[in-house]
Amino acid sequence: MERTKIKELLLAKPGQKVLAKGWVRTKRGNKDIAFIALNDGSTINNIQIVVNKAQIDSNILAKVTTGACIGVCGDLVESVGSGQAVEIQASEIEIYGECDPMRYPLQKKDTSFEFLRSVAHMRMRTNTFGAVLRIRNQMAFAIHEYFHSKGFVYLNTPLITESDCEGAGQMFQVTTLDLENPPRNKKGGIDYAKDFFGKQTSLTVSGQLEGELGATALGEIYTFGPTFRAENSNTPRHLAEFWMIEPEMAFYDITDNMNLAEDFIKHLVKYALDNCYDDIKFLNDRYDNELIDRLKSVIGTDFVRLEYTEGIKILEKAVADGTQFEYPVSWGVDLQSEHERYLVEKHFGKPVILTGYPKDIKAFYMKQNEDGKTVRAMDVLFPKIGEIIGGSERESSLEKLEKRIDELHMSRTNLEWYIDTRRFGSCPHSGFGLGFERLLLFVTGMQNIRDVIPFPRTPKNAEF
Ligand code: 4AD
Ligand code: MG
Repeated sequence: MERTKIKELLLAKPGQKVLAKGWVRTKRGNKDIAFIALNDGSTINNIQIVVNKAQIDSNILAKVTTGACIGVCGDLVESVGSGQAVEIQASEIEIYGECDPMRYPLQKKDTSFEFLRSVAHMRMRTNTFGAVLRIRNQMAFAIHEYFHSKGFVYLNTPLITESDCEGAGQMFQVTTLDLENPPRNKKGGIDYAKDFFGKQTSLTVSGQLEGELGATALGEIYTFGPTFRAENSNTPRHLAEFWMIEPEMAFYDITDNMNLAEDFIKHLVKYALDNCYDDIKFLNDRYDNELIDRLKSVIGTDFVRLEYTEGIKILEKAVADGTQFEYPVSWGVDLQSEHERYLVEKHFGKPVILTGYPKDIKAFYMKQNEDGKTVRAMDVLFPKIGEIIGGSERESSLEKLEKRIDELHMSRTNLEWYIDTRRFGSCPHSGFGLGFERLLLFVTGMQNIRDVIPFPRTPKNAEF
């Protein structure tokens, strides 16, 4: 007999023989009857298995413990109990894998997120992580579908690179050199000519620069892949390995870029509500009963579009009126997440797209404004999260770009391929990066970014 997934069984017509397979969540009952809650990961909901103890070998039933993996054959019948439409009257149970209740890490006694991170190899079996990971999957699909429907080309950019796109020096080096005894050059430095790639390489912090090569050839592209940052920020919003979606579009100016970012993110939030409602409802009811309202409110509102300079004025006024921030505010500073959240949550009560940042706190590739001080950057700031998207219009003038690279004392030699886009048929273009896990924090209402990725990598932690 063929197995049916529990998600389908819960919607199926009673009155048929079925086979379900999954992991036991709970078993309870009395001397005549046992009730097993079975879950196979296809849905947050369990199917109830009713066992008439006279019909099933008691040795087998004894092995049906929390965590065990079993197959159940039986009749799908209308459920008498409340809470479910159908249940299975078991006629046969097969044990695939026993689970020693004394040693199983997922016990009722400690279900804190900290504890679950220490058993990340098992935590996907919990309701919460099942829900989060199903939502993650749906969001990944929705992202591809969104861009595909708009004719964007999915471009795979390299993970190993020699360029530090964001210029923040937060790269993980990739090398096969013997670290105990590296080859030396004449000056006594490390001789990277002898390294695997014949030069110094790292894991990428962003696929943007290669994305721009794609956009200035294919028109509109997007990347969706892992990125790596060796920033030592132990915060609930930073990972050392995270996934980013980076669209890059020829002929888009900063306004087109903002319009796309707003439409994109609203589409994704709406997609989540339309396609992951059971999981979102579970998270809403269990942890954060404003989650669904927050998601709906983002879809139904126009994001505020605000110049950095105006944002700073609002924050300075807040300070004058008695708001206390940990970090000082004045024109020229990079905003901290407390500032971003003040603007979004306290001042406007909705998402804000902040533009026109000082050029000194942004990357070299951003289009410079006429004032000589600011660039056409845009950060999309979200409630509970702060920055969820960072992007800009790109500097398309060869002269200005080269000047900026020199000002920042960046090496031009390993960027010549990038600068070629401005030498040969340069065009106005724009793009942005959405942090996938930041999006998931918003959509799931989870508090810590370590809990929206299956196996988080953070400073001092690369287990599993
Ligand atoms: O603002 P960032 O650094 O922008 C870029 O990397 C650009 N090259 C993107 C582009 O224009 N194509 O990063 C973009 C987004 C941030 O807004 C944030 O959502 C996420 O990536 N992000 C992180 N997410 C998790 N952990 C980290 N350490 C992150 N750093 C950035
Ligand atoms: Mg940023």
